[in-house]
Amino acid sequence: MILYFFSKNVKKICIFIYALRGNENSYCFFLILNYNGAMTVGFILNGEDVSVRVDAEVRLIDILRKNFSMTGAKVGCLGGRCGACAVIFNGVVTKSCLIPAFRVHGSEIVTIEGFSQNDEYQDIVQGFEKAGVEMCGYCDTGKILAVEALLSKKPRPSRYDVLVDFKGVKCRCTEPESLVNGVFATADIRQRRRYGRSS
Ligand code: FES
Ligand code: FES
Repeated sequence: MILYFFSKNVKKICIFIYALRGNENSYCFFLILNYNGAMTVGFILNGEDVSVRVDAEVRLIDILRKNFSMTGAKVGCLGGRCGACAVIFNGVVTKSCLIPAFRVHGSEIVTIEGFSQNDEYQDIVQGFEKAGVEMCGYCDTGKILAVEALLSKKPRPSRYDVLVDFKGVKCRCTEPESLVNGVFATADIRQRRRYGRSS
């Protein structure tokens, strides 16, 4: 009989072997093997093919910050609650602290650094400026990408839509009404840029 136990945290595999050979010659023993969890992860980062060798369970936010010096995604709660670490992952705004390296392989990621090259980013910055939305630096990435996620599915969101969508972004500086006005102003600016009118 062979049983094995695997622990990612201690990176060891423990194997228990128990064998019966007749009535008297049974034996058992343990084997403890080191486990090397490193893997090569290839993906598209802000339009470029990249690859990196990391442990399979390392978080995407750590890969971005440590291996690619992309520090726009901030380290906050590391538990999916604050939104400070947001990136666009395969076209969807996602919290990078919740994505382990093995899920990154083969994906396409746009960070705030890449997104800031687009007109959509400028719409949001101008909309926030117009509405006087606070930008202290801590949650800017989360707020900007949350606006993008909302406006890409609802170009004319309601006040309720904004308040519901921003529940995942923890911001200590911005009043909810200011945020709502910032999103409305961004929606106007975007409509005008795309269609030459605001509605
Ligand atoms: S650091 Fe990722 S959600 Fe808070
Ligand atoms: S603007 Fe300061 S925490 Fe959000």
